[in-house]
Amino acid sequence: EPRVFSGIQPSGNLHLGNYLGAITKFVDLQSSYNCVFCVVDQHAITVWQDPEGLVRRTREVTAGFLASGIDPEKHIVFNQSQVAAHAQLAWVFNCVARMGWLNRMTQFKDKAGKNRENVSTGLFVYPNLMSADILIYKATHVPVGEDQKQHLELARDTAQKFNIDYAERIAALGYGVENIGRDVTTDPEQIFFPQPEPLIGGPAPRVMSLRDGSKKMSSSDASDKARINMTDDEDTIALKIRKAKTDPQALPSEVDGLEGRAEASNLVGIYAALSGASKEDVLGEYGGLEFSKFKPALIELSVSKLSPITGEMRRLMDDASYIDGVLAKGAERAEAIANPILDQVKDIVGFIRRK
Ligand code: TYM
Repeated sequence: EPRVFSGIQPSGNLHLGNYLGAITKFVDLQSSYNCVFCVVDQHAITVWQDPEGLVRRTREVTAGFLASGIDPEKHIVFNQSQVAAHAQLAWVFNCVARMGWLNRMTQFKDKAGKNRENVSTGLFVYPNLMSADILIYKATHVPVGEDQKQHLELARDTAQKFNIDYAERIAALGYGVENIGRDVTTDPEQIFFPQPEPLIGGPAPRVMSLRDGSKKMSSSDASDKARINMTDDEDTIALKIRKAKTDPQALPSEVDGLEGRAEASNLVGIYAALSGASKEDVLGEYGGLEFSKFKPALIELSVSKLSPITGEMRRLMDDASYIDGVLAKGAERAEAIANPILDQVKDIVGFIRRK
């Protein structure tokens, strides 16, 4: 049975990259899938988080989900630490995934930098927790931005290695299921975890910094002008777009003409994603025009799309007990799916459990 899972870290400001790369897709997928959307607070503490800030930002991401149009009645919205099964499966995956696989993760290399001896051990095994997030629900589809692609490949490898390592046991217990993902190469009776499929795409799968078209937009960028935060007011959005780095040429009329023009390509991609059009469409309208003409249009579009969401986020964030109630109810529903799967994992691995 197909199921969507995705997560967002409450580790910084929710920004336009999160919104276009992930949240808008979550909103669209609601009509065709059962979805589980998670605020991954346990992932966040792989780097130091001020505790009060973590509480606030967990509510902020939740408010961002709801304000963007995620329906917590129809779908499941909760924070990761309330469902212990994630961490329990992550431990099993720590023992399935190989050092060599994790050593290749570019996000770890980027985040650890030269400081490898002094980053948390959690940062290294972070992708195993992510695999567990997805597979504890046997999720089949995972909407993410392009930067998460390598982690999704690791999740697929981990699912496959678990299935192979425990194939006989899975079949003996009768826990095998039809695989719904790609690469159906194994006997369905021996497949426990599906191969989760990344859903990456659209005109802005990787939103870049407004100050430097070679860097992704990120909550950890030292310059706040590099990103548009979901909580920025209209004047701030306008200022950041007006100051956004560009080149001196007019916009091309064809997408090919954006090659080698990272900043131009980024702004066109943002416009396209916000308006639900393609880059071709946007260049059809704005090709040949200067940035002095395009930027005001982008400002108007951004403000008209984002400010209602910002307003609703602010309103929701004032009602912490409502947000916490949504998370608690979501966690209960999440456990109802995750716990029976965890019980089966325990049986497969050979952990005695209370029956
Ligand atoms: P995180 O919290 O960094 O980002 C949340 C989502 O936003 C996307 N994103 C972007 N998309 C386009 N352009 C950008 N500049 C940009 N920045 C962020 C991310 O790709 C992501 O989809 N490890 C994950 C969180 C996670 C997760 C999971 C995701 C934990 N468990 C299970 C999916 C399934 C992360 O750090 O995302």
